[in-house]
Amino acid sequence: MNADAQPTVLEFFAGAGLARLGLGGWRTAFANDLDPAKTRAYAANFGSMGLRQDDVWDLSVEDLPSGRADLAWASSPCQDLSLAGTRGGLTARRSGAFWGFWRLIEALDDQGRAPRLIVIENVTGLLTSNGGEDFRTLAETLAHRGWRFGALEIDAIRWVPQSRPRLFIVATRDSVAGLSGPCAPFHSRGVVEAHGRLSGDARAAWCWWGLSEPLPMRGDLDSLLEPDADVVWFDDDRTAQLLRHLGSLHRQRLDAAAASTGRSVGTGFKRVRMEKGRKVQRLEIRFDGIAGCLRTPAGGSSRQYVLVAQDGGVRARFLTPREAMRLMGVGDDYRLPASVSAGLKLAGDGVAVPVVRALSEGLLKPLLAGQAVRAA
Ligand SMILES: C[S@@+](CC[C@H](N)C(=O)[O-])C[C@H]1O[C@@H](n2cnc3c(N)ncnc32)[C@H](O)[C@@H]1O
Repeated sequence: MNADAQPTVLEFFAGAGLARLGLGGWRTAFANDLDPAKTRAYAANFGSMGLRQDDVWDLSVEDLPSGRADLAWASSPCQDLSLAGTRGGLTARRSGAFWGFWRLIEALDDQGRAPRLIVIENVTGLLTSNGGEDFRTLAETLAHRGWRFGALEIDAIRWVPQSRPRLFIVATRDSVAGLSGPCAPFHSRGVVEAHGRLSGDARAAWCWWGLSEPLPMRGDLDSLLEPDADVVWFDDDRTAQLLRHLGSLHRQRLDAAAASTGRSVGTGFKRVRMEKGRKVQRLEIRFDGIAGCLRTPAGGSSRQYVLVAQDGGVRARFLTPREAMRLMGVGDDYRLPASVSAGLKLAGDGVAVPVVRALSEGLLKPLLAGQAVRAA
């Protein structure tokens, strides 16, 4: 990157383009996603230039822009955490989209134009899936190709009222020194333990990345909600039916919220729990000003509810796609699809925008500029 040029990014598994929104100031030279609805939403918001709707396995290095990018961002799908043991042979294609991405990085590297940085974003479960074998495989893969890398666990809750911990693995080819050891809060216990399980080669390539502590800017949940008059509330019967799914702890939470003065806003999800040996559907709620982690709406149980306790009564409704996007730190100028479930899927699958921004400003840009890594 020369001093005046914008750094460039190849955005894999681009989804709704939320990584792109967070990487303000970077130029997206290429973006890819398999899903037609996601690609439509991406194009509606950012245009089609450099956008490819394709299975990552169907791309070849010739499909990528010429030259060397500064960053390859890969929010690979969290459903396929199974990274270990299947990267070669006939099972490779089915084994996970991550390896489809990785083979492109290797091909770029063979042409002497590997990106300067790679970010791999995933759920924190990657630290422990398959007994830690997936993370070990990923770490060894990076180390054996000459990357220095480290992982940070960052929860979007620092910026937005949504609990959303995610893992960010940042890899570089440059010889920068990380911190001397783990540093709270982003080197969580899970990251430290996963580091402890690495082989010698992978450990030698490990860097303890720092990220300057973000300012506490978290918005308030109620202020992100639509005005009460603009949304569709459940009628009394439907609300009563929903509340019948409360277990005793969650019933107490609701009663406490209802007994408090003023307006209390909560959120909830239905979940299936085992109770006395049988499956029971439960409504699990929180009134702590934080929304639960947004998920993709694959079935009724993953839609998030909004509950408002006020003046002795309780009203309930579904969280809207616009509210979900606000919980991801996305501005209201983002064009949402007409379909509610498509909108919720964009948000539920996405990466929180302020987290990407903090990573970009606090680590990626300093790394590109060859600056020393700073502690939180
Ligand atoms: C976790 S989401 C990424 C979301 C994105 N970072 C955002 O913030 O909107 C993973 C994405 O990978 C896409 N995907 C899954 N398998 C793929 C494949 N084989 N090739 C290309 N894209 C794929 C999905 O359609 C989904 O949009």
